[in-house]
Amino acid sequence: MFNPIADLRRTEPLMDRFGRRISYLRVSVTDRCDFRCLYCMPQAMAFLPKRDLLTLEELDRLATAFVRRGVRRLRITGGEPLVRRNVMALFRSLSRHLRSGMLDELTLTTNGSQLERFAAELADCGVRRINVSLDTRDTGKFRSLTRGGELTDVLAGIDAARRAGLSVKINTVALQGINEDEIESLIAWSHGEGFGITLIEVMPLGDVGCNRTAHFLPLSTVRQRLARHLTLVDLPDRTGGPARYVQVVETGGRLGFITPLTHNFCEGCNRVRVTCDGVLFTCLGQADSTDLRAVLRSSPEDSALHAAIDLAIASKPKGHDFVVDRLRDGPALPRHMSATGG
Ligand code: 5AD
Ligand code: SF4
Repeated sequence: MFNPIADLRRTEPLMDRFGRRISYLRVSVTDRCDFRCLYCMPQAMAFLPKRDLLTLEELDRLATAFVRRGVRRLRITGGEPLVRRNVMALFRSLSRHLRSGMLDELTLTTNGSQLERFAAELADCGVRRINVSLDTRDTGKFRSLTRGGELTDVLAGIDAARRAGLSVKINTVALQGINEDEIESLIAWSHGEGFGITLIEVMPLGDVGCNRTAHFLPLSTVRQRLARHLTLVDLPDRTGGPARYVQVVETGGRLGFITPLTHNFCEGCNRVRVTCDGVLFTCLGQADSTDLRAVLRSSPEDSALHAAIDLAIASKPKGHDFVVDRLRDGPALPRHMSATGG
């Protein structure tokens, strides 16, 4: 039954035991992807059956519950979010929170393959910035790394995003023996186009059917190599996430480093994630999770949902326990990046 008092109480901001305000939510809308990046998923990936996925209405309801509890930034991820059928209806409905001032930012992480089709509409829904994953600008390498992806589609998508007025940030996973020789030119290209770029260390998430360790490239090494030719000036800005930023003096652009394995970035963590089947993860590096789908489906009214969110946030762990050694013995955690979102 609708209980206005219980409901009113559920507007206070989410705060964990360590005094961290939860202001950032990532929602994965699908575990599917039209690419099969070598480090992300096996060729024959087993996807969730459709009935396990939250419907677009459930995704909206869930995200809205978090927005009411103080989440100010919302990132839609996947898998590849733009392959979810009718995903624009979700963007459209979530955009009401931007207009009402409840939300500061609605954004997405995409592989860019469908961006040409959706960029203008995303901009129309109030999306201002997007992250596009791009590990190489070599057509052949791109095809083999993504197991069949077309670089020209992604470049056309990036171009459409720019024309739509979206600010683009490139995400590049640094891979030994694959793109390590291209990182400097990816930075030059990104900055030349007016895009920021963030380098990501490969993380041991999910079985991918091959040895990821072989391609593990510490960003400390990358940074040392870059510093031979480029002047990197540390920037103080923190987003509450795992990235550290520098200004590249020669290009005038911004470069980020995400080093989950060699750095501890947990103390300022303000974020939580929900998978496309409604599982809440309060820490990317821990297995603790809460099934919000069952709670959502148990009642059309949100008080049980808020109670479950409160309980989960109250037990958000202090930090992750990724260990580089675990790369050698297979995944540190069984779930894939495509389930929790990047
Ligand atoms: N380690 C690091 N990054 C990964 N991504 C996907 N899987 C992994 C992994 N195991 C990246 C994608 C994308 C971002 C969302 O996550 O390339 O840039
Ligand atoms: Fe798809 Fe991104 Fe995973 Fe590549 S890294 S398979 S683009 S979800």
